[in-house]
Amino acid sequence: NVLILDFGSQYTQLIARRVRELNIFCEIKPYNKLPEDLSSFKAVILSGSPFSVRAEDAPHPDLSRIKGHKPLLAVCYGAQYLVHFNGGSVAKSNTREYGRANLSYINSEDPFFESISEGSQVWMSHSDTIKDLPKNTSVLASTQDVEYAAYKFDNESTYGIQFHPEVYHTKDGKKLLENFLVKIAGLEQTWTPDTFVDVTVAELKQRIGTDKVILGLSGGVDSTVAAVLLHKAIGKNLYCIFVNNGLLRKNEFEEVLEQYHDMGLNVKGVDASERFLSALNGESDPEKKRKIIGRVFIEVFDDEAHLVDDVKWLAQGTIYPDVIESVSVTGGPSATIKSHHNVGGLPDFMKLKVVEPLKMLFKDEVRRVGKSMAIGDERLGRHPFPGPGLAIRILGDITREKVAILQEVDYIFIKGLRDWGLYDEVWQAGAMLLPVDSVGVMGDERTYEKCVALRAVESTDGMTADWVNLPYEFLQKVSNDIINKVPGVNRVVYDISSKPPATIEWE
Ligand code: XMP
Repeated sequence: NVLILDFGSQYTQLIARRVRELNIFCEIKPYNKLPEDLSSFKAVILSGSPFSVRAEDAPHPDLSRIKGHKPLLAVCYGAQYLVHFNGGSVAKSNTREYGRANLSYINSEDPFFESISEGSQVWMSHSDTIKDLPKNTSVLASTQDVEYAAYKFDNESTYGIQFHPEVYHTKDGKKLLENFLVKIAGLEQTWTPDTFVDVTVAELKQRIGTDKVILGLSGGVDSTVAAVLLHKAIGKNLYCIFVNNGLLRKNEFEEVLEQYHDMGLNVKGVDASERFLSALNGESDPEKKRKIIGRVFIEVFDDEAHLVDDVKWLAQGTIYPDVIESVSVTGGPSATIKSHHNVGGLPDFMKLKVVEPLKMLFKDEVRRVGKSMAIGDERLGRHPFPGPGLAIRILGDITREKVAILQEVDYIFIKGLRDWGLYDEVWQAGAMLLPVDSVGVMGDERTYEKCVALRAVESTDGMTADWVNLPYEFLQKVSNDIINKVPGVNRVVYDISSKPPATIEWE
């Protein structure tokens, strides 16, 4: 296991992902929450930071239990930090140390640089720089502008690098991490999806025994993978509940329910469409719609949970980015774990013990684990779909008729993407029903009907997104199909806004 100590860099999660890609397990901890017991960590990595080590309010944790005791790799701020507090000096840099650079000197004797050649491209991003190294250190690599691009403390496995090995632009970054973790720290590359499944299933069996567990399935990747893992561990004692809120895609409820049955899951489909749609009646405010849907979901789920006798656990598909405690750059270190409601007013199912088998995995790892358990691409490769479903794609108030229209439009659009081989090129796609009627002409008739907007974006995590340049021929075909086949729609537009400043959903 590897400990990554976070000083607030935007790249900390990327370090963790690179380490995991090497099949080595790692955990991120904020610099001010160094675990008491460090015995399970075989190596430590210090992240970068937006702070300057010279600033008084910068992170200055006590590393005396680590440095010289465990293999230590300090990146960027981390590297400057070790220099600053061990007799060297760090100052503002006068040359630009941002962007690509090439290693003009490498000490290839050191195992850290094994199989890496001079000229290798690295990515720098700092405004401070190391002016003088401490006495008991040696330079391992330089670039034209940065003399101390990499250094090592003599007689210790302590390394510092001022560039970022975790970003894609550092071409040999992954190799460097591998050299450090495998060659220097002696870690084994055994953390694969298969071993994750074996270990997790064994742990779940042990922890849950013969207790009953309930889990809400959404049709998405995370809840599906969590359910299959738990099912492997406890079989029929896992009670899955899949709720139709009446705002899913066309046929989604029936099709997904059937897939869940085929996977052998003990799943109950609950059609609560009427309950959701009645509660939403007349509401057009986006945030209120979300709140209503959230509240009704909890009510429905609570009712269902009561039908299972003597249930002890609630399982959730929470993933690692939801639980990593991050270092806040503005207001000092803070824990941003989701706050829990106060216990008194909780629905009964929320008082259960919680089990979250995916809580140490990144999204791409959830997919890899799903694949290793033979979950099909129709689940794992599915575009994200928001919890409130079509409710936040129908601008204004929601009626059954509007839901039915949007389901047809969405169906033609998504099926078109699949038929044209475009579905996997797109991160998320969907249609919005606009609160606008406009004039058209069909045959000799004047029409005055609805307008829909199609949206397709590329993204990695939904935080930023670009609209996808879909082929004109494709847009022409789906637009024709929609207008010809969906009564009530006479106009189709394509959304060409990026996020930011637009969001992916229109509400
Ligand atoms: P926005 O519209 O904020 O969407 O750019 C970013 C991603 O989040 C999804 N999204 C939601 N998911 N409940 C959800 O479960 C919501 O209320 C919600 N709002 C947006 C959206 O589909 C996109 O993937």
